[in-house]
Amino acid sequence: MGESIEMRRGESVRDALYRAGIELDSPCNGQGICGKCQVRVENPELFQKTPHPDISPEQEAAGVRLACQLTPRKDITVHLLSAYTQNAYRILEGQRYPDDREAEEGRRNLTAPERKSPEGWRPAVRVTEAGGRFWLYYDGLEPRQLIVWHKNWPPRGLAIDIGTTTLVVTLISLDTCQELSTASSMNPQGQYGHDVVRRIQGGSTPEGLEKLSGCVRAGLNELIDEVCRDSQTRNDQILDVVIGGNTTMLQLAAGIDPEPLGRVPFTVGIESGLTYPSSRFGLSVNPAARVYIPPVVHAYIGADISAGLLVCQGFFESDQSVLFVDVGTNGEMGLNAGGKCLMTSTAAGPAFEGMNISSGGRAQIGSLERVYTNGLEIIFKSIGNAPIKSICGSGIIDITAALLKMGIIDGSGRMRRPGETDGLPADVAARLCEINGRAAFHIEDEVYFTQEVLYL
Ligand code: FES
Repeated sequence: MGESIEMRRGESVRDALYRAGIELDSPCNGQGICGKCQVRVENPELFQKTPHPDISPEQEAAGVRLACQLTPRKDITVHLLSAYTQNAYRILEGQRYPDDREAEEGRRNLTAPERKSPEGWRPAVRVTEAGGRFWLYYDGLEPRQLIVWHKNWPPRGLAIDIGTTTLVVTLISLDTCQELSTASSMNPQGQYGHDVVRRIQGGSTPEGLEKLSGCVRAGLNELIDEVCRDSQTRNDQILDVVIGGNTTMLQLAAGIDPEPLGRVPFTVGIESGLTYPSSRFGLSVNPAARVYIPPVVHAYIGADISAGLLVCQGFFESDQSVLFVDVGTNGEMGLNAGGKCLMTSTAAGPAFEGMNISSGGRAQIGSLERVYTNGLEIIFKSIGNAPIKSICGSGIIDITAALLKMGIIDGSGRMRRPGETDGLPADVAARLCEINGRAAFHIEDEVYFTQEVLYL
């Protein structure tokens, strides 16, 4: 890439890259466990080894190292091997296929003129002028004087989703209920771990909480600025905000210690179903704006699922069974079974993102996502039709199914080894290999699908 970065004493290569705006995929948050942050160093004999089961002796000799464990004491040249995000956090736009973008444009164009306010909708806030001053009315609350306001400003609101992986901010007209603009980015807390449990651990010290809370607030404010720019709105026009998110994300955004969420009896520290001043979340909106947090049911049943259920008209009233599913990095489900409501959640992301798969990765350009076979040939398709760099969750399911169909994996999950080629076409048989003693199937370049258990 031709970039030069000045490193700090004792700093890891991963952290130095991060400071320079290059975020390596590192699900274990730099603990040397996941093996995802591999780089290749030049002149490897001059630098420490970073042993890991996913680095073979040949790779090690060729200079492959874990960036999170590498703390060089002299100038070093590294080549990036693993998935990374440059100039952080702006992946969603870039990850869409061109076709999708066009389809999205088409949808926007088609639906924009037809958008109407939902039935029964009325503005949540009202601004009136009296005695030369502007007053803000929320339902059932005392009017508040608006210090910053202009008579020509239409009031705006925000719907915010703080996902474990992704942040989404939508600007809404509080006059017409129309969505004016939406922006999304990666949750910058990803640098401190990809799942909820690691975020709880990371935010359980005052310094950690400050970092996690500060970076998500900064990420949200960037998106707020973006939607305001996009729709010629001033941040001061935003008077009402709703934030959905799992309990951990909400507490971190509010600067509340998440540590009790990580141990019995899993005590929730944020009060929900009520409104807060926007300053509580450090949002760059009108200083008089309020922030509503939908009900949190439990440490692991957060305002993300309750917000979802609140907009699913009929979920609670239906006399049929209704299942609501929200699959994110943290996945939630709600079931209304004849009037009895059950809810649960689990960490879904690490399974789908291939965290524990040697060539696994998030769904991004270059991830294997589809595998086709007629039993004789095998065809791979990656996201964006780019050279294959990793296998995302849907790719893992597809290749397992394809190899099962071709008889390369049997019903017990055992994978054929090199030489066990009975009945296989020659070009498929040639893909059977071994990686560090494990049976493997070669996909492309350095991407393999491997057997986890050794069969002796
Ligand atoms: S091994 Fe380096 S981030 Fe996981």
